[in-house]
Amino acid sequence: MLMIKHSRFAFLAALPLLAISPPAMSQSIVGSGVPASTVPNSMERPISFAEQAPAGAGLVILTQSAELPETSSLTATERSAVETAIASANFKGNEGQTLKLRGIGSHPLIMLAGASSDSKGPDWRSAAGSAVQKLMKEETELAIVGAPDAVAMSNAAVGLSLGQYRFDRYQFDIEKAPASQRVTFVGGAANEAEALWNSRHKYLAEGVGFTRDLQSEPASTIYPQSFVERTRAAFSGVANVKIEVLDEAAMRKMKMGAIVGVGQGSPRGSRMMIVSYSGGSGAPLALAGKGITFDTGGISIKSNSGMWEMKADMSGAAAVMGATLSLAKSRAPVNIVAVAALAENMPGANAQRPGDVVRTYGGKTVEILSTDAEGRLVLADAVQYVADRYKPFALIDIATLTGSVGRALGNQYAGLFAREDSVADRLINAGKTSGEHLWRLPLHPAYAKAIRSDIADVKNSGVTNAPGASAGAHFIGYFIDKSLPWAHLDIAGVDWIKTSQPLTPKGASGFGVRLLDQLARDWEAE
Ligand code: BES
Ligand code: MN
Ligand code: ZN
Repeated sequence: MLMIKHSRFAFLAALPLLAISPPAMSQSIVGSGVPASTVPNSMERPISFAEQAPAGAGLVILTQSAELPETSSLTATERSAVETAIASANFKGNEGQTLKLRGIGSHPLIMLAGASSDSKGPDWRSAAGSAVQKLMKEETELAIVGAPDAVAMSNAAVGLSLGQYRFDRYQFDIEKAPASQRVTFVGGAANEAEALWNSRHKYLAEGVGFTRDLQSEPASTIYPQSFVERTRAAFSGVANVKIEVLDEAAMRKMKMGAIVGVGQGSPRGSRMMIVSYSGGSGAPLALAGKGITFDTGGISIKSNSGMWEMKADMSGAAAVMGATLSLAKSRAPVNIVAVAALAENMPGANAQRPGDVVRTYGGKTVEILSTDAEGRLVLADAVQYVADRYKPFALIDIATLTGSVGRALGNQYAGLFAREDSVADRLINAGKTSGEHLWRLPLHPAYAKAIRSDIADVKNSGVTNAPGASAGAHFIGYFIDKSLPWAHLDIAGVDWIKTSQPLTPKGASGFGVRLLDQLARDWEAE
């Protein structure tokens, strides 16, 4: 028995105990503590390859024109029936165009899917993606013919996988989940196609799916620490991967005042997560992603219209992790360091205010003019930290940074900013190869005036008529040494798609995963 018991200060004895072991429950609950779902998304159609179509499968014919490709899957009579239908439906084989036919021979259905695109050569990915989207309710096995070689077949499989993505883990009151019967890619090069798929492309599709899931999840599920946990789980068991996580205390110690400042209005602590994958030699390529798990705007609060989309304000962070997952799982011969700058931008009682000044990792200071220009703040600490500690040979940051870029470029291009033409060209080319396109926007020195502050080194937004996306790019560039090759990708117009595209059902796009995967491979291949 403690003697203090009979003292009028007896309660003091209990205090340290309380501090050491608070009730276990209150410590672990974030939000309500009632998960809205404990199940994964519904099962997708599994993908396989074969030289012959399985009996009884619905037949999907990919074609670059109105002319049917050679295939042993159609008898002569069936072939001429399909040709008649093509003519009467005026099917041209254009990218995204489809034609669904029934009642021909013994086939439960036949679908034609166009791959012709004048700008880029045939697009087998989009053809397969469009087809599967139109067959989401078709509860039959599918056989896909028409892709002429192994690369085309494996690419079509990527397109099919991306096109059939669903985020339905919160839907319980629906009659039927989308179709999950097997799909077989059929052709003479089936073995080679399967090898390419299994060694590389299936991981690319998995990386995109991982990123889309993170983007789609509500902010009640994904906050900085849960982002870290999910990403850790995705990388668990993957060879040559190291993970470093900085919590708020660690970041405060290193004087990362910008990211800690953004998160200080939220009870959910900020994190910086660094995943390095070493599959090659030499310095790594650094990828830095904006990871705002929800952006209310903070004290500079946003209006409610469309605010829910700010659950996807961590798309850049999700994309760098998805790309790294793809590269690591496919054992690509590259070195990558991916950093996710994670914080929740909330207007809590301790939130930072317009006019506040923060210190960043490297010692440069920022005057906060708008707490809604928070992405550039978390990235300021992230890019300085990764450049300092990991000594990359180049640094690419990717962020849903400005509404302005979406107004300029719409949803077909992300904005690209680079100091050097050679860096810009690499990215534009990786965009063309991967199908995630970029459009270069200016980093004119005159636009840097927009971020000059009267009382700190820079300010995070300004009341000038400088182009917003360029001002944001300049802000991030201010923290990056001129000798380090750097590019900034503003994906605010492409991270969330409002109407379905062949490779992107309405919603989270996973933009950046395919692009950065391609960029890393091409860069290292030189
Ligand atoms: N996350 C937003 C940008 C955004 C807007 C992404 C729309 C996706 C869709 C970003 O944090 C933001 O609020 N940017 C401000 C910057 C301004 C305050 C300098 C913007 O674009 O208005
Ligand atoms: Mn904002
Ligand atoms: Zn934001």
